[in-house]
Amino acid sequence: MVFHLAAVSMRAADAPADGEEVQELALESGRLEDPQRMSDAGYCPREEVVRLWKEKSRMDALFDGGDKEAYWLARDEIYPEAGHRGSDRQPLGNRSGDKIEEIVTAVGKLEVLLDRCKEKGRLVFADVCGAPGAWSKYFFKLGAEARCVTRGFGFSLREGTNVLSCTWFPEARSPSKKAANTRLAELAKPLAALKSDPWALVLDAASLASSTALHGAGFRAGRIIVPNDSDAPFSSNSLSKATVIQGLSLKDFIMQNSKKDRSVGGYGPFTCVYCDFTECLYGSWRPPQELEEPGTPTVAYRSSPGQDLQALFRTGQLASGALLAVTLAHLRSNKKPEQWPQLRLLIGALAAEQGWCSVVVDRLEQRAVATEYWVLGEPDNVGLQQVLKKELSELARIQVAVLPLMTCLSAQRAYAGDNFVELWGADGSGNVCLPENVSHAAAEVGREADVVMADGGFLVLKGSNGEHMENYQEIVSGSILLAEAWL
Ligand SMILES: C[S@@+](CC[C@H](N)C(=O)[O-])C[C@H]1O[C@@H](n2cnc3c(N)ncnc32)[C@H](O)[C@@H]1O
Repeated sequence: MVFHLAAVSMRAADAPADGEEVQELALESGRLEDPQRMSDAGYCPREEVVRLWKEKSRMDALFDGGDKEAYWLARDEIYPEAGHRGSDRQPLGNRSGDKIEEIVTAVGKLEVLLDRCKEKGRLVFADVCGAPGAWSKYFFKLGAEARCVTRGFGFSLREGTNVLSCTWFPEARSPSKKAANTRLAELAKPLAALKSDPWALVLDAASLASSTALHGAGFRAGRIIVPNDSDAPFSSNSLSKATVIQGLSLKDFIMQNSKKDRSVGGYGPFTCVYCDFTECLYGSWRPPQELEEPGTPTVAYRSSPGQDLQALFRTGQLASGALLAVTLAHLRSNKKPEQWPQLRLLIGALAAEQGWCSVVVDRLEQRAVATEYWVLGEPDNVGLQQVLKKELSELARIQVAVLPLMTCLSAQRAYAGDNFVELWGADGSGNVCLPENVSHAAAEVGREADVVMADGGFLVLKGSNGEHMENYQEIVSGSILLAEAWL
């Protein structure tokens, strides 16, 4: 396999601006799993790498022989700090937390970076192959200790191999997602209170954070439906949070659950629907944050958010007096038509088709996405009237009393509030092996990072000679940190 590296020019945050002289990095390309090339780390003698690689390969027979559980057992016994399978007993969340502390202690020059960040009052890091995020947590901790506003970019496989070890920790994720969920629950609560055992339909991630937020709004786990066609590994306790229907996209679920075909089980009608699309209205996934021209055919096996919403309304999935929340990714190209007015027009028209009102009651603006909240229903629906009345009085209060203050605060807080951004690359997979994903992530980081670190796999489990390549990555990931941190 030939591995091409993207031509991404990099410079440290304090390096000269455009137009001034910037030293380009010399990049070499070659076979990804070539042991000769891979053991040439550039930072330490080849023999050292080979010796360490050999050491780390001693356990391979155990894994190859299907006895990995014996390894976990032994490791938890002799290395209890890691916690059971590296989970709960480690303050940073897993044994990678120990690794980053050791690396940074060994490098010993962290103060230079932190002093620079203290002067600027901010620390920006990029954590490549970083999920679930112990390294990110570590840098958030350092940033807080140095009294810096800290901002992180996390770039890691969307579909990691294991939900426990490869999905971003909920606390590492953007607080903006928490804000979106909190507002969802707040608005859904009065509507749910008017229904007996209300239903919700949610596009949720494996952490089921949106579903969990809805518990406080009166929705039971058995009545929160989460269609998921991504094969994301939901944990064994997901039943206590929601009813996950694996292997079905939102559109497939809607079609099967429609009045005509109740084979899926006859769920709903839904009092709360949260479509966290994290793509654009017309469903462009490559790149995910660019809107295709209307009419551009979408990838054959996916429906676009616009199509999903049409199906949602036209198959009668929504209860009168329902909350609908839609999250869309921001457009990156200003040449494309604005999508939010089109979304509002679409929802307004779909609601009108069935004689309903649709009112946007709130919008949450975030760095990579925005979420809008609608209440929908027959014009005289009691729930709809109540929510609108409350939101209107709230609006009047804010406009009169606190709007100027809020504007100042939000400008000040913009940086701190949205402090962790997950990057998934141009194809949405989070795979760092694809050059276009690297370019996409580099553009998102926008040359702001003070430190770039990498602790990850390159999907090559074995080389052509049978070597375990994951052992190699563990060796060089330290080198990448050393190299990038001090550029
Ligand atoms: C060793 S773990 C990183 C642990 C992390 N530093 C922490 O502190 O929690 C490696 C991560 O890299 C991800 N990964 C593996 N291959 C990848 C690839 N080709 N592109 C992006 N991420 C990858 C895995 O899914 C996993 O989440």
